Amino acid sequence: MTIYCQPAASPGDLTTSVGGTVRVVDDLDAALRALGEDPSEDLVLVGPSTDLGTALRFTERLRLERPAVGVILIRDQVDVALLTQALRAGVREVVAADDQPALSDACERSRALSGQRVTAERDETKGKVVTVFAAKGGCGKTTITINLAAALAAGGTHRVCVVDLDLSFGDVAISVQLDPLRTISDALPMSGHLDTTGAASLLTAYGPGLDMLLAPVTPGDAEKIPAALVGELLAVLRGMYDFVVVDTPAQFSEHVLTAMDVSDHHVLLTTPDTPALKNLRIALDMLDLLSYSRDIRSVLVNRSDSKVGLSTSDVEHVVHSPVSAQVPSSRNVPVSINKGTPIVIATPAHPVSQAITRFARERLLNQPFAPKAKAFARRAEGRR
Ligand SMILES: Nc1ncnc2c1ncn2[C@@H]1O[C@H](COP(=O)(O)OP(=O)(O)OP(=O)(O)O)[C@@H](O)[C@H]1O
Ligand SMILES: [Mg+2]
Repeated sequence: MTIYCQPAASPGDLTTSVGGTVRVVDDLDAALRALGEDPSEDLVLVGPSTDLGTALRFTERLRLERPAVGVILIRDQVDVALLTQALRAGVREVVAADDQPALSDACERSRALSGQRVTAERDETKGKVVTVFAAKGGCGKTTITINLAAALAAGGTHRVCVVDLDLSFGDVAISVQLDPLRTISDALPMSGHLDTTGAASLLTAYGPGLDMLLAPVTPGDAEKIPAALVGELLAVLRGMYDFVVVDTPAQFSEHVLTAMDVSDHHVLLTTPDTPALKNLRIALDMLDLLSYSRDIRSVLVNRSDSKVGLSTSDVEHVVHSPVSAQVPSSRNVPVSINKGTPIVIATPAHPVSQAITRFARERLLNQPFAPKAKAFARRAEGRR
């Protein structure tokens, strides 16, 4: 089916040129809703009534979120300046309103391209993206991210990449004693055309099956990284790895939301103290508000045995959500960080390592992942 955005148009106006069923919508918000409802949708025609700026912003967004969907712009007049702007935004073709044969050809070409992209994406989406988040600092995001990645890599059984998205204060590098010679900042010149060779040049190898994409080190560099680049990096990395595990700062930045958008699983951390629980409750409400699927979410309590008077059922009661894993507190954790070797690798039999490994196995390795298209549909629904 094709979506045609043009107020007061009738589907019959275009059926012959476009081929197949045409669904007419009044504006691009309605087009987004229609796309959310049908993940197999692959073509949007934007009619002359839609303002150019709105059409281009819509196309840029789709390019990131639904790259297999083609956008064809129909304009009363077509000139070189318009073409340049449109193609730069990712519009597949611009067609004059009175040129039905050209529209028919453009639709055919776009559908062929979408078919190729879907096949390519099937390969690209091989790897699973897992984002580790806590709305309060110091809950153990970095510790859990690194150890979870090590547990998933299992000595080289799987290919895993850690991405340090704590762009201003990232401490993945220091936690595993890696020299940040290459960082996310080096991706900037490749923005818009990043490929696997380019992505590979940004990575730092840590151990068997385990690589890291480190956070910028120069003050001010974090602000230069656009959120779209994060989406691009994750899309390429998931084609190279079985798992991409993302460490985050303690705020819902645009970068974090971009990672959440493309993630197959969200790991939400808390510690058993009331400020962390309050922040987790707010974070879960926020995720619900944005309509991220609950099926792809795990709540993990770190330092769960801290003698602070809050039990697992207290935690579940406050956050209205079941706890998927509990990682005990141990002084061996900071000791392992000071030595630069994740505890899962240094002491696999340690209760902390066992808890993280069990979580990796039960929630990530042995679980079928929710279909992406379905997650997108629910998210698009909520964003409305
Ligand atoms: N299970 C644990 N037992 C003992 N100490 C722990 C545990 N988990 C984390 N820590 C310690 O807590 C501190 C904070 O951990 P970490 O840096 O992983 O948190 P974070 O959420 O990434 O913090 P930030 O918000 O600053 O990025 C570190 O010193 C770490 O060693
Ligand atoms: Mg951290």
